[in-house]
Amino acid sequence: MKKYLSKRNILLTLLLAFIAMQFFRIDTTNPPVELEKDFIQLTQPPAEIAANLKTMCYDCHSHESRYPWYTNIAPFSWRIKSHIDNGRKHLNFSLWGDYPEKRAAHKLDECVDMTTKHWMPTLDYKLMHGRMSDQEYKEMATFFKSAKTSKVISHNFDYLLGSWKRTDDEEGNQTYESWRKDSDTKYIGQSYTLNGTDTISQEYMTISKPSEMWMLGVQIPSEPTETMFSLKTMDANSFEFESQENEFPNLIRYEAKEGRLDAAISGGDMVIPFTFEKI
Ligand code: HEC
Repeated sequence: MKKYLSKRNILLTLLLAFIAMQFFRIDTTNPPVELEKDFIQLTQPPAEIAANLKTMCYDCHSHESRYPWYTNIAPFSWRIKSHIDNGRKHLNFSLWGDYPEKRAAHKLDECVDMTTKHWMPTLDYKLMHGRMSDQEYKEMATFFKSAKTSKVISHNFDYLLGSWKRTDDEEGNQTYESWRKDSDTKYIGQSYTLNGTDTISQEYMTISKPSEMWMLGVQIPSEPTETMFSLKTMDANSFEFESQENEFPNLIRYEAKEGRLDAAISGGDMVIPFTFEKI
């Protein structure tokens, strides 16, 4: 009887301890993501490898950690949190753009090593998320190797600079657009459409980075304020800005190609394409 009671007491104590642990919750807020510093944005891996990086590495090595339900149960949550803190400290794909060249090269070496030996992700992560196939490991390792030798892509909007003329205008119209760089975090653009000698429309644009996020402001002379769009995607020669609030457009997309800019503004089912030629 005595033995039974003490066993019950132990269980009860454990249960109470488990419940008490639940009050020590982990912080699951992620630091902001700055796309232009992100490893995947900067190195442009093939889609399958990018997807594997996101699901197999980014939970601990980026500011895009996901927290499924079991990550909130102590004491597991504490272990997971410590892996995330520690993982980010050793290698943070969200801050890749901040790594000096030497550190980036060294980290890529370590990534090649970790993926060649199948040492990452950690064992408990594999238990919960499944593992990558040998082939997937091999492809990821090969990508890390090639990322090391490829030149670093600079992430800015310099390809916009200069003057452009639209080549797909409506009959009788002539549209011009020009961009200049005010500082590393501010680009100023202007566009206008002529019909004969009349200016039939005009637009001012700024691409700037008031805080972590790049923003695009568009203003027409008859409106008192700019319409703001926030950066959605960006790579070495293209970008998309979006706005949930604005009726039209919701999305503004530019892509630079040899002496050409392909742009499109879209919203709902409507897409208006613009093609510009350098002048
Ligand atoms: C569950 C969290 C977690 C996941 C998921 C994860 N890692 Fe890690 N990783 C860590 C931790 C924690 C460390 C630090 C290990 C230590 O303390 O030595 C680490 C260390 C590393 C290091 C060594 C960095 C250094 O400075 O020594 C590399 C490289 C690495 N991870 C790559 C990856 C890659 C590539 C993936 C995806 C295939 C991945 N990791 C997935 C938690 C994780």
